[in-house]
This record gives sequence, C-alpha cells and structure tokens, in this order.
Amino acid sequence: MPNAWTKSGWRSKPRIQMPSYADDASVKAVQLELEKKPPLVFAGEVRRLKKALEDVADGKAFLLQGGDCAESFAEFNADSIRDTFRVLLQMAIILTYGAKSPVVKMGRIAGQFGKPRSSDSEVRDGVELPSYRGDIINDIEFSAEKRVHNPRRMLQAYSQSAATLNLLRAFSQGGYADIRRVHSWTLGFTEDGEAAKYRDLATRITDALDFMDAAGVSSDRIHSLQTVDFYTSHEALLLEYEESLCRIDSTSGMPIAGSGHFIWIGDRTRQPDGAHVEFCRGVQNPVGIKCGPSLRADDLKVLIEKLNPQNEPGRITLIGRFGAGKVADYLPDLIRAVKDEGSRVVWTCDPMHGNTIKSASGYKTRPFMKVLAEVTEFFDIHEAEGTYPGGVHFEMTGKDVTECTGGVSAVSDATLEDRYHTFCDPRLNASQALELAFLVAGEISDRVNKRKSENGRIRAVAV
Ligand code: PEP
Ligand code: CO
Repeated sequence: MPNAWTKSGWRSKPRIQMPSYADDASVKAVQLELEKKPPLVFAGEVRRLKKALEDVADGKAFLLQGGDCAESFAEFNADSIRDTFRVLLQMAIILTYGAKSPVVKMGRIAGQFGKPRSSDSEVRDGVELPSYRGDIINDIEFSAEKRVHNPRRMLQAYSQSAATLNLLRAFSQGGYADIRRVHSWTLGFTEDGEAAKYRDLATRITDALDFMDAAGVSSDRIHSLQTVDFYTSHEALLLEYEESLCRIDSTSGMPIAGSGHFIWIGDRTRQPDGAHVEFCRGVQNPVGIKCGPSLRADDLKVLIEKLNPQNEPGRITLIGRFGAGKVADYLPDLIRAVKDEGSRVVWTCDPMHGNTIKSASGYKTRPFMKVLAEVTEFFDIHEAEGTYPGGVHFEMTGKDVTECTGGVSAVSDATLEDRYHTFCDPRLNASQALELAFLVAGEISDRVNKRKSENGRIRAVAV
C-alpha cells in the first residue's frame, strides 16, 4: 500500500532543518523514555479543536493564535505563562466584543521549542559554531560545548511543556478566565492608551453582565462565561520528539500527535515529499501549513491532497506570511487553487515572518505599521475573492519588551535595546498586541457592517 503510514515512516524521506545527533544510542534512549510518558494533550481535546476550526472554515468563528517565537528553558516561569495567557485572553475579548464572533484561542506554547535556521552555522569573531536551533536541540550560548545537539534536551522540553499545560489548564478552567474578572486582567499593565481603551471595553462588558443578572439570566451560572477552551500549538519540527509522543486514540484507533493540540509545518519544511509532511499526514490533529512567497499553487494542491485526502473541514489551516505589500502577489492564486479543489480550509494571516528587517541599530525587528498593513491586505483580498479571513497568527508576549518598532507605545530603533529579550524573532509586546486586536476587531466589524448595509439595500431594491 503506497499510502500506508507509520510514525517512523518520515525517516525514509529527505529531512532538513533537523539536528545531527552524535550518537544514535542516546537518541534512542531518550525516545524510549518519552514513549513511556503520558501524552501532553488528549484525543478528545484534539477532536474538539478540529470541530471549532470547522466553524472557522465555515466563517462562524475566528482563530487567534499567538505566543513566543521560541520558548526557552531559562525564561520558564509561572509569571511569563500567565502574562501570555492573559494578553491572549484580552485580545480574544476585544475580538469577541468588537467583531461579535466566537474566538478560538490558541497559544504558540507548551512545545514551541524547535527553530528552523537560514544557516547551519554561525560565525563570531572568526569562530564558527553550529547555529542555535531552539532549546529542545541546543543552547543559545555561543560556545562549542553548548551548541552541541543534545537529545536529552527533549526531556526537558517535555517536562516544561507538561508544567506549562498544567498551569494553562488551571487558568482556563479554574476561575482566572471567568469573564467577571475581565477588569482584573489589566493588573500590572502600563497606563498607555491601549490599557485605557481596554478598561473602557471591560466596563461595557461588566455592564452587560450586570444587566443579564438583573434580568434574571444569572451570568455567574453560565459555564461558557466562567471558563475558556485554550489550545496549544507549535511547529512540528523535531520529528524524533513528535514520533515519541505519537499515541493511538483509543476511541478512533487512529494516531494523534500527543505533543500539542495543533501542529504546523514551517515555510521551510513543507516539501510535499519531505519528512515533515510525511509525519503530519498520518496524525489526526489539525495541521497548519505556513504559506510563504515561494509556495506555488500546484504544490499547495499536492500538499492539501496529501494532508487531507478526505477533505475534512477543520483539518487544514493555511497560514499566509508574505510580507506587507506582497499579499496581492501571492494569496489570490492560492485561494483560487483551494477553491478549484473544493477544499474547506481555514485561512489565517501571520503578519510577522514576512516583515522582519534589520534596524539601523542592528536589531532584528518588525515595524508595527507593516504588521498591520499585511493584516489589512489579507482582509481586502479575501473580501475580493469572496472567501473568509479566518484568523491571525502573531508572535507576541505578555511582557513589556521592546522588540517590534511602532505602535502607540512608540518603540523606536533607538529604544530597541532597552528590553530586547527574544531568543529568536522579535515579538509584539502586550500593548502592541492589544492595539492590533482592536484594529483587527475594527476591520472585521467594518466589513460586517458594510455587508449588512449592502444586503439591506439589496433587500430594499427587491421589495
Ligand atoms: C515561525 O513561525 O517561527 C517560523 C519560523 O515561521 P515560518 O515557517 O513561517 O518562517
Ligand atoms: Co518566528
């Protein structure tokens, strides 16, 4: 059977962006340890997410995906997890309220450790060492010993992910995410324009809840207002790790990736005959495909056919990342290819990875205006093509970092150095993330209102 799949089948395919471990025996030993561990996510949760993404594909909900470019072992602590969770929750509230749409909430978290790199090695002062490939593979410190690809790091990534998920589950189900606390999520926030705007929105929401209570609806008894469904996602880059956490779902008898609810294939590793596509095609999780300028429409058709032969809605999310000013050059062809095939996919926009530049001060950065411009182009093109812009994918943190320039908090080239903490790509800080959420909510509601008034006019003419 040419299509038979096993969790190790990827090993016979071309592999790129993967570590070169010095000895197979220690990799095998780590894999055996990981195979004995419980999965990080469960099949029922994965199925629920797929159902939620089906609603996004059908235009009935919006996907918010965000978090670190690269999680790190050193920065791991409860406050950082809470800060990221909190800002995602705030963004989701802004979008739900502003766009009047249910929001599927997904972190780039609890597994986002492996990084593809443009070069295998890095040279500093004439010394050449292997590039940093994320904490699951080697250490960021520039020393020969620390840059060795060490399979034991997979165990640390697993336990950090397990602890992260434990906290996220507590936050989302244990009271922190209760809508009645919408005001308290601002605690510790700097007092800029966005915080004030958020507080205003929080007051309006609280008023609505008070009204419900007064009218006898008892908002404090409605489960969906007290808890949130929060999902995890990461790039499925390190296939030894993914393979070891692959489990069989006892209900369906089918394999699932136990490493996270949603996994995606990066723009550099989406070769239709490559190892990453081979692994992902066999697991039942929803799968993302990063779509950059080099993706040809024909290749996209092949990828979709391989990854979703049954055309299951909710299975495929296409994450465009073309760069501001370039979306119109690439996205329409991809949309038409997907339409030709009759595929039901989720379309989202990653306005980060096509907009990375080197600042005058030497830091890798992303101008806020470019990020926003790409999102607006994404909405415009879907409107022109009659398709649904289903979501956004951001690199962001709940902390007050200075990594992307612009926004109301006005980070400039000169202030990038103040709090530039990222291990990989520059992230939006909490204020920039909220600002973007308000702007996206505005884009969506403007378009919905425009459509409503057009429909109203059509009905009026028909009468
Ligand atoms: C990323 O999402 O961090 C990443 C490397 O993206 P891409 O594959 O789109 O370059
Ligand atoms: Co990145």
